[in-house]
Amino acid sequence: MKALAVFPTRREVRLIDHPEPGVTAPTAVKLRMLEVGVCGTDREIVGFQYGTPPPGSEYLVLGHESLGEVIEVGAAVTRVKPGDLVVTMVRRPCPHPECLACSAGRQDFCYTGDFTERGIKGAHGFATELVVDDEKYMNVVPHQLREVAVLTEPLTIAEKAITQVWQVQQRLPWACPIGPSGEPGSCHRAVVLGAGPVGLLGAMALVNAGFETTVYSRASGLRDKATLVESFGARYAAAETTTLQQLAERVGNIDLVYEATGAARVSFEMMEVLGTNGVFIFTGVPGRKGPIELDANLIMRNLVLANQMVFGTVNANREAFEAAIRDLGTFVARWPEAVRGLITGRFPIEKATDVLLGEPGGIKNVITIS
Ligand code: BGC
Ligand code: ZN
Repeated sequence: MKALAVFPTRREVRLIDHPEPGVTAPTAVKLRMLEVGVCGTDREIVGFQYGTPPPGSEYLVLGHESLGEVIEVGAAVTRVKPGDLVVTMVRRPCPHPECLACSAGRQDFCYTGDFTERGIKGAHGFATELVVDDEKYMNVVPHQLREVAVLTEPLTIAEKAITQVWQVQQRLPWACPIGPSGEPGSCHRAVVLGAGPVGLLGAMALVNAGFETTVYSRASGLRDKATLVESFGARYAAAETTTLQQLAERVGNIDLVYEATGAARVSFEMMEVLGTNGVFIFTGVPGRKGPIELDANLIMRNLVLANQMVFGTVNANREAFEAAIRDLGTFVARWPEAVRGLITGRFPIEKATDVLLGEPGGIKNVITIS
């Protein structure tokens, strides 16, 4: 069957013929893959900066943001049935029994680093015609979400982050008085740094939770980013014309920053304007670049004197996938055009290398498989 693969030692990315997987375990499920989303991680992998083939394989099949349809189930499968649409989780636990996180089913917090990630690290991904995995890694998506369900995985990043925000902010009186809307973030102001798919989906999740949300970004070619952002109830501040000081004056106390750029300089500069009792979440992975200068004295002073909190977050657990699927349904009901507008290109798998190696453009590009 067709698969999109990267050969790190040969420095090649191409369509290959890959063996078909079979349903061999009683809890295994076979999927016909429909779509795979392309993200910055995939670009790093095809740039040979990141990514590892499975042991003994010369190549890695790409793809971790996916949507598939169940076509065959093992005898003991109960969570899914043929015809279901599913999004499969990315990370698998490490083999070490002493890893508290993996033993608890929280491989997204793996201690040892010996986890695998499908399409990224040590395990083949989803950019291929058929995929088999255990039912426990699959999440059913309602058929009404068929068109946008490939956005589930990038949305899980925000879902896991927001869950942690509520947890860590329990350190202080932060819960908003419950107003008529019942939105938990209604008394807080959030800034999203970056307007790529992770940033925009994060902004939708924050707006949906009631946060007054501002997206701060360089337009990077897309003239209508501001219109898109405003269409789902957030504000847009262009980095070209708004300094971080001006942003802070405009927003007021910045209670939450959701970083989604992978750019260290602007992120740490943003940290300088984080508000009292604020929480700053890093989701971006910077490339291996040299050191930068930053006002560490100011940042440290603020962290202490303003009781600030900074954390990084990666990957996602089952609850985050379930929340993402639920929220995607809400987003589609509230802002159908905006959600659909996040997917700016669909390309057949035969054209996938152009998408991966060429100038990306648009917001989320998707590879269609069947
Ligand atoms: C994926 C995560 C993964 C991370 C690090 C991201 O692009 O969405 O699932 O854990 O890369 O490999
Ligand atoms: Zn990704």
